[in-house]
Amino acid sequence: MKRRTLIKNSVLGTVATIIATNSHAQMSTPREVEGPFYPITPQKDQDADLTQVKGKTGRARGQIIEVTGQVFDQNMNPVEDVTIDLWQANSYGKYHHPHDNSEAPIDENFQAWAIIQSGVKGRFKFKTVIPGAYPLNSSQQRTPHIHFKISKLGYDSLLTQMYFPDHPLNKKDGLFKRKSKEEQVMMTAKKLGDNNQYRYDIIIEKV
Ligand SMILES: [Fe+2]
Repeated sequence: MKRRTLIKNSVLGTVATIIATNSHAQMSTPREVEGPFYPITPQKDQDADLTQVKGKTGRARGQIIEVTGQVFDQNMNPVEDVTIDLWQANSYGKYHHPHDNSEAPIDENFQAWAIIQSGVKGRFKFKTVIPGAYPLNSSQQRTPHIHFKISKLGYDSLLTQMYFPDHPLNKKDGLFKRKSKEEQVMMTAKKLGDNNQYRYDIIIEKV
């Protein structure tokens, strides 16, 4: 073979390999806006149980749920030591944030914010309550959701929101409706049985 043909073939080979590799890569978890209520008030208790606040005896109001999942890269290899920063409204639909002016009450026993790590096999788990819906304006509501900031050195950081399956407000939510069906599936937790257990996996991209 002539040298030029050899080079051409090897370039084509490389392109074919890249295409083949990418066709197996999973779509990463779709991004969503951070929203105005990322916590700004310092908080000592940021553990994986949002239904209790250290030093208080009460329990958060609302339906208690447990969310388990795994963090993967796009080749579905588990990713350990990922920082999972999550925050949400309480069961009344109120953020513990000074800029949330809604009339809904604060729940002093709700932790509202957690920063946890993925562990062995990228696994994580947290306990919380189903967040309430909250009004955006006089005609629109946000469907219940949990905000996430996911980060690890060597990976693209990811801001997203997790939704709940079959919630009637999902269909009316402006942000949720904007996503494709496939994206909606990836952003929606799966209910496991009737036990208030949910599964939510996260896929992040290597830099
Ligand atoms: Fe929100």
